[in-house]
Amino acid sequence: MKTHRIALIPGDGIGRDVTAAAWSVLRKAADTAGFVLEGTEFPWSCAFYRETGAMMPQDGIETLRGFDAILLGAVGWPTQVPDAVSLHGLLLPIRKNFIQYANIRPHRLLPGVQGPLKAEAFDILCIRENTEGEYSGAGGRIHQGTANEVAVETSIFTRTGVERILRFAFEQARARRGKLASVTKSNAQKYSMVFWDEVTHQLAAEYPDIEATSYHIDAMAARMVMTPESLDVVVASNLFGDILTDLGAAIQGGLGFAASANINPDKSAPSMFEPVHGSAPDIAHLGIANPIATIWSGAMMLDHLGETDAATAIMAALERTTASGIGTIPGKDRTEAITTAILAAL
Ligand code: NAD
Ligand code: IPM
Ligand code: MN
Repeated sequence: MKTHRIALIPGDGIGRDVTAAAWSVLRKAADTAGFVLEGTEFPWSCAFYRETGAMMPQDGIETLRGFDAILLGAVGWPTQVPDAVSLHGLLLPIRKNFIQYANIRPHRLLPGVQGPLKAEAFDILCIRENTEGEYSGAGGRIHQGTANEVAVETSIFTRTGVERILRFAFEQARARRGKLASVTKSNAQKYSMVFWDEVTHQLAAEYPDIEATSYHIDAMAARMVMTPESLDVVVASNLFGDILTDLGAAIQGGLGFAASANINPDKSAPSMFEPVHGSAPDIAHLGIANPIATIWSGAMMLDHLGETDAATAIMAALERTTASGIGTIPGKDRTEAITTAILAAL
């Protein structure tokens, strides 16, 4: 029987609950479809940092490299470990080292979910650049703590990085409804964002069948609220994509619904699947985290592994569950009740 080896990193807070929920659904889907998911759990988290002084062992990246995919819950417990330490110690190095340059985040309403907008028929695929840009980690602080303090954070945009993410987005648009919105702030940021716009324009000539439009990030934020149905594929830099996808989560009913795939399109290293949301310290330990975002991310993982029937079955089970009203109102149903309903629908 075909076996896929999955690295499980539940992480912190609700990351633990939603990963356990997703894993049970994934295992059932695998059993039904006739393949094996072999999971290996890694306790890498803020608690691990407090015990060992690191978010993962020194050879953590090399350990993960041997897996077919990674399923991650959430990382971060800011009252115990500064976020900049925990995220730069685990999540961000995985995305960067494994060249998971395409972060795919779908935003649409599941049946039965009432979003905050009047519009219901939107189906947006956000593609976020995931390895460079504003998250490059280049910069520094001088005269720290003095009146003359200066902090510099340098965004690095390479032609390789910009071209490959835009090409990926053009291809996604081609496989969908043929529309691409490329998002920058080239009216204010005159180097990186003008460069991004230029590359968009250059590639548009190669994709005459795609209707490509450049938008400013501020206008795009308003558009996603006012006329989300006008959008198909939206591509943005690392930071802008981060912000737009929490907005996307909001219009699809909340962070508990927003799935995410960190893809290495060349398959030269494992890809990683995780919800858009974080560890949610405000609701951790209450048992009310919505596991749907992580289960949806798990379906994206199976799709990536070539198990398309099982992925489709999970999405159908999710949709049947929300259509029946379970898991649709944040905080109303417990994590376990939602997971049980999805398992039954499967
Ligand atoms: P968050 O996404 O954890 O929470 C924002 C709000 O959404 C909270 O009110 C929370 O209760 C709610 N929420 C999130 N997921 C939910 C779910 N599944 N069901 C119901 N409600 C949900 O964002 P934050 O509070 O800014 O961050 C908390 C910690 O998580 C920080 O350390 C942050 O850096 C980290 N973080 C990690 C990731 C990741 O690992 N990928 C992503 C985002 C934030
Ligand atoms: C996300 C998160 C991360 C990001 C944080 C935790 C570093 O917000 O996955 O959206 O900004 O990429
Ligand atoms: Mn985010």
